[in-house]
Amino acid sequence: MNNKIGVIFDLDGVIVDTAKYHFLAWKNLADALGFEFTKKHNELLKGVSRVRSLDILLSIGNVKLSEEKKQEFLVCKNKEYLEFIKKMNSSEILPGALELLNTLDALGIKYVLGSASKNAPLILKQVGLFNRFAGIVDGNSVSKAKPDPEVFLIGAEKLNLQPEQCIVFEDAIAGIEAANTANMISIGVGDKETLEKADFHFESLTEVTANFIKELVKRVS
Ligand code: G6P
Ligand code: MG
Repeated sequence: MNNKIGVIFDLDGVIVDTAKYHFLAWKNLADALGFEFTKKHNELLKGVSRVRSLDILLSIGNVKLSEEKKQEFLVCKNKEYLEFIKKMNSSEILPGALELLNTLDALGIKYVLGSASKNAPLILKQVGLFNRFAGIVDGNSVSKAKPDPEVFLIGAEKLNLQPEQCIVFEDAIAGIEAANTANMISIGVGDKETLEKADFHFESLTEVTANFIKELVKRVS
């Protein structure tokens, strides 16, 4: 077992693409409230907690709701979202993700999940990856959402490593900020401009090679 480094993966946008399902569920809510919610708006919700997402959505539509109504809509949105999730299977694992997990296994490097989603365990089970992770930190285990580093710091504890020994794969600005604040090596996956604060960047996980991981091990040692 290589105990010099460990990896923390964000889920949505790194291992699977659930943003499209969040979009459909949020859009239905916006439709019901009578305002437009676009894919561009949806970008603002990536990596953001469910509760905060609703607040952002309501500010887009300039709608004010009572706490009670907000709770009702949150339950309703999640119910609809879960209908999509329940239909997911391993074909929805993003390109390169499985290969990267295999590479890490071969190198004896442990990995955990660090996601804002309260549905993370269910999603991992749907796509058949639940048992591969050494630990799961999700939206149920944290009190502070990204960009706060809490989710990744708990991930480091699960890996029994210091933050400086952890590598984070993230697709959202808030997640890269959280990793950087935690003093971890941040790797942005997706749009380069959006993820400019990341220590390293890849368009997709398919570009991450075993050699790159080995270099990181050397760098941390
Ligand atoms: C991830 C997604 C966000 C989502 C959040 C909460 O971070 O990128 O778009 O709002 O999880 O997801 P949940 O499944 O708890 O509603
Ligand atoms: Mg994400």
